[in-house]
Amino acid sequence: MPRKNSMAKRTLIYCYLIGIALLFTAWITIHPHREIVAIHRWNLPVSSGIPHPALSSTQKADKTGHVRPNIQQRQRATKLWTGNSTSRAFKLILMWSTWMSTMADEPLVKARCPVTSCLFTSDMSLIHQSDVVVLYIDTLTDFPLNRQPHQRFVFAQLESPVNTKLDTISDPRLRYDYFNWTMTYRRNSDIILRDYYGSLVKISNKTRIEKNDASLIRNKTKLVAWFVAHCTTPIRREEYVRQLSQFVTVDVFGRCGRECPTNCDDMLRSDYKFYLAFENSWCPDYVTEKFIRPLVYDSVPIVLGGADYGRFAPPHSYISVRDFGSAKDLADYLMVLDKSDDLYARYFDWKREYDVTLLDLSGWCDLCRMAHDGSLPDKSYRDIKQWWMSDGGECETNSTKYY
Ligand SMILES: *[C@@H]1O[C@H](CO)[C@@H](O)[C@H](O)[C@H]1NC(C)=O
Ligand SMILES: *[C@@H]1O[C@H](CO)[C@@H](O)[C@H](O)[C@H]1NC(C)=O
Ligand SMILES: *[C@@H]1O[C@H](CO)[C@@H](O)[C@H](O)[C@H]1NC(C)=O
Ligand SMILES: *[C@@H]1O[C@H](CO)[C@@H](O)[C@H](O)[C@H]1NC(C)=O
Ligand SMILES: *[C@@H]1O[C@H](CO)[C@@H](O)[C@H](O)[C@H]1NC(C)=O
Repeated sequence: MPRKNSMAKRTLIYCYLIGIALLFTAWITIHPHREIVAIHRWNLPVSSGIPHPALSSTQKADKTGHVRPNIQQRQRATKLWTGNSTSRAFKLILMWSTWMSTMADEPLVKARCPVTSCLFTSDMSLIHQSDVVVLYIDTLTDFPLNRQPHQRFVFAQLESPVNTKLDTISDPRLRYDYFNWTMTYRRNSDIILRDYYGSLVKISNKTRIEKNDASLIRNKTKLVAWFVAHCTTPIRREEYVRQLSQFVTVDVFGRCGRECPTNCDDMLRSDYKFYLAFENSWCPDYVTEKFIRPLVYDSVPIVLGGADYGRFAPPHSYISVRDFGSAKDLADYLMVLDKSDDLYARYFDWKREYDVTLLDLSGWCDLCRMAHDGSLPDKSYRDIKQWWMSDGGECETNSTKYY
């Protein structure tokens, strides 16, 4: 009977498909995870100046500019990497709990550091061969206790003290006499790392072509934009936005507002004159990509944070909330600038002397240079919690003083 026949056929096909699905799931669980981790850990930039016997000269880089060595090559490379500290020309830097893909000498080559002979790895089995161990406090779950005297353990943190997990740095084994160096955005760190927070850099080369932003500025039709993910904050920045929006239109995008119609950054550049660069906590030097982003996308940041902004950007490149007695005063000033293209355009004069970058890798250069510097004295932090929470200046938390 044809009907029964086709049903049997269908059952057979189903069984076949289920079989394939099961095999695929099994394969995924056993292999690729390991493989992906391995590839992630062994990205080696082609541009590296370090002689690397693991790579043959015939290998081609992939789209991202990386050569991905095969298993045998990785094993040979491991031997090279695990030579003792004095027998190799480079320093091995172990990223203990990183979520960043800072691998091999990639950031150093990208940043054109003066010293690039360091290799970053996240392979924890290389702990004893490492010269420097970078511990990201934010993602730290366990930490090494056996150490060699020459190794430098680095306290790495890009979040503010207010957003730091206190139970981690309260653990006495980590808190007292554990860290040798600090690497944070704060200017009193051994290594100042801004990384994806970005920076303004003074232009040394005067041959730069003048950009004419006049039509870009004239074309902007909207006043204030705010892209935001955390709708409520302890310092109640949202309350200031509410007050400001009683006097001028503030368009809120992101989790607490609407979605950008197209690309947020393009929209900022073409439509908006001002951007609310409000940090989620007010801590010394805590100036994040919220501030750098509008500078990149040709909008004027209105800052509200705990930093001395004059140390991060030239005068007249931003507007500070704290220079105004109230949200109404600020709104009045924004309306003055809105009416005068000339006054507004002055907020772009800094571009003649500064470049702005969304990725500042110079901290990695400093780390590699310091790893090679045998003249640096031994150092360790007696109490890292005290240093992070108080010694650099405390974060401000009482916003009722201002609004
Ligand atoms: C390190 O390696 C070099 C060359 O292989 C060797 O001469 C030296 O004795 C080794 N040093 C230590 C401390 O193992
Ligand atoms: C300035 O830029 C020009 C052209 O881009 C370049 O040839 C020159 O080497 C640069 N000078 C410095 C000091 O960087
Ligand atoms: C400004 O608008 C004009 C007219 O719509 C357009 O031709 C010009 O390309 C725009 N300028 C910029 C920088 O977007
Ligand atoms: C690093 O800190 C540890 C713990 O305080 C200390 O024993 C070691 O001598 C320090 N090493 C260097 C190179 O500063
Ligand atoms: C915050 O500041 C306001 C105004 O200066 C003051 O009245 C209030 O007591 C402060 N609150 C705290 C918790 O310090």
